Amino acid sequence: MKILFVTPECAPYIKTGGLGDVSGALPATLAALGHEVRLLMPAYSGMKVSGEVGDTVEIPAQGPWPAAQLLPVKAENGVTLLLLACPSLYQRAGGPYVDATGQDHNDNALRFGFLSRVAAALGTAASPCGDWKADVVHANDWPCGLVPLYLAQARALAPHEPAAASVMTIHNLAFQGVFPMALADTLGIPVHWRGIDGVEFWGQLSMLKGGLQFADAITTVSPTYAREIQTDEFGVGLQGVLQARADRLTGILNGIDTRLWDPAKDPLIPHRYSAADLAGKALNKAALQKRCGLSVDRDAMLFGIVSRLTSQKGIDLVLGVLDSMLAAGGQLVVLGQGEPALQDALLTAAHAHPASVSVASSFDEGLAHQIEAGADCFLMPSRFEPCGLNQMYSQAYGTPPIVSATGGLVDSVIDATQNPLTGTGFEMRSPDLAGLEEALDRAMSTWRNAPAWAQIQRNGMGQSFGWTESAARYLEVYQRAIDSSRA
Ligand code: ADP
Ligand code: GLC
Repeated sequence: MKILFVTPECAPYIKTGGLGDVSGALPATLAALGHEVRLLMPAYSGMKVSGEVGDTVEIPAQGPWPAAQLLPVKAENGVTLLLLACPSLYQRAGGPYVDATGQDHNDNALRFGFLSRVAAALGTAASPCGDWKADVVHANDWPCGLVPLYLAQARALAPHEPAAASVMTIHNLAFQGVFPMALADTLGIPVHWRGIDGVEFWGQLSMLKGGLQFADAITTVSPTYAREIQTDEFGVGLQGVLQARADRLTGILNGIDTRLWDPAKDPLIPHRYSAADLAGKALNKAALQKRCGLSVDRDAMLFGIVSRLTSQKGIDLVLGVLDSMLAAGGQLVVLGQGEPALQDALLTAAHAHPASVSVASSFDEGLAHQIEAGADCFLMPSRFEPCGLNQMYSQAYGTPPIVSATGGLVDSVIDATQNPLTGTGFEMRSPDLAGLEEALDRAMSTWRNAPAWAQIQRNGMGQSFGWTESAARYLEVYQRAIDSSRA
């Protein structure tokens, strides 16, 4: 199968969250299964990419769209990167979505509209790559939301030249790419698709809604989230669209990249270890306490967080239980950036309790691995969580997580209280302060029982979180999308 995976971010080149991890691993797994996989993403400033470089493809300016180039690079993992070079859109300070001050780039609709347009073109007879035309284009999150619409448009304009099938994956329904409808002309959205059955969302234009309306198949990153997003509570206004297209919607749990996240081989942690020999874990704990300026005390239960600091992630709940956690002898290390109020409250707590609370507000891949390896227990009390990767990393690292019972957290963590033999972590019984407090108590008392804790650690480390199984599920979805697009 010729697969084009289009994404606004991809590890290790550029990453702001879990979509970067998925983009770094799923296409590579599909390539290893024998498929021809190309990955289209913008060429942002400062990206370092290595591999065999192919011939540059010119994309001429057209209407409102600037001239650009596709730079093909065959990466070591078998995926051909197609870097979309267009300096006026992508070479600037800041990250993929926000400028250096943290505000959204003011031309995001054009930046990602253009990415989507080029992706769709790669699935048509007019593919800029000439003889290479995708069978399926896999679009990820709102920045790629117009891909299915553009492909549907290509099919309508040239019904006898079948365009690629489209698959739209929702990594987070809370981000929808909503812009003024006045941009519809520039984006080339046909007038008859600007209504409620098209991209219209409360009078504005929603790129994600466009994707959901026109995709041949829709996926999201866990089976539980696939159900949740069809409800008023989790649907963020798009539940009606998702209910109407429920027959096209599949939940496929993310995997983890076991080449990067394996405590037996991880070069980013000071001491390597495995389920068979957990001795290195205690050494990582001491190293982490030391690095973070906490008291080096093996009897203090060390809780870890690596997260965007947003209300989605329940960081306010962590602040709410902090006093009782510290009173019970716990320590907390947090790595994260995000909402200033949450960041400030955490920094204030660290300042007040320097020996037991440490907060790093940076983006630090090495420290993220060291927290997974060095903490005793990982905290992830999310209000909603499409999949979540850190709870899987933490299980693989023998760091049982405390999670809320939502989305991918339910699908990837087995509660140890209800399942004493197979449990891998602790599920909150309610998504609030009381729920976190209660789960924390359970985890702390279990931790004092060393053999019981070691059992939970080994259960988690024994889970298989690799990508192979999920990649096979994506291939089934791709095939169904191709069949239905041709029907
Ligand atoms: P989300 O995509 O919603 O942010 P996920 O759990 O799916 O949540 O993925 C987050 C990814 O980003 C993980 O790989 C996590 O380790 C990483 N991450 C988040 N914040 C930081 C940070 N401050 N430094 C390093 N890595 C981070
Ligand atoms: C999103 C979600 C997260 C998921 C990630 C990768 O950022 O918030 O739960 O793991 O995408 O799919």
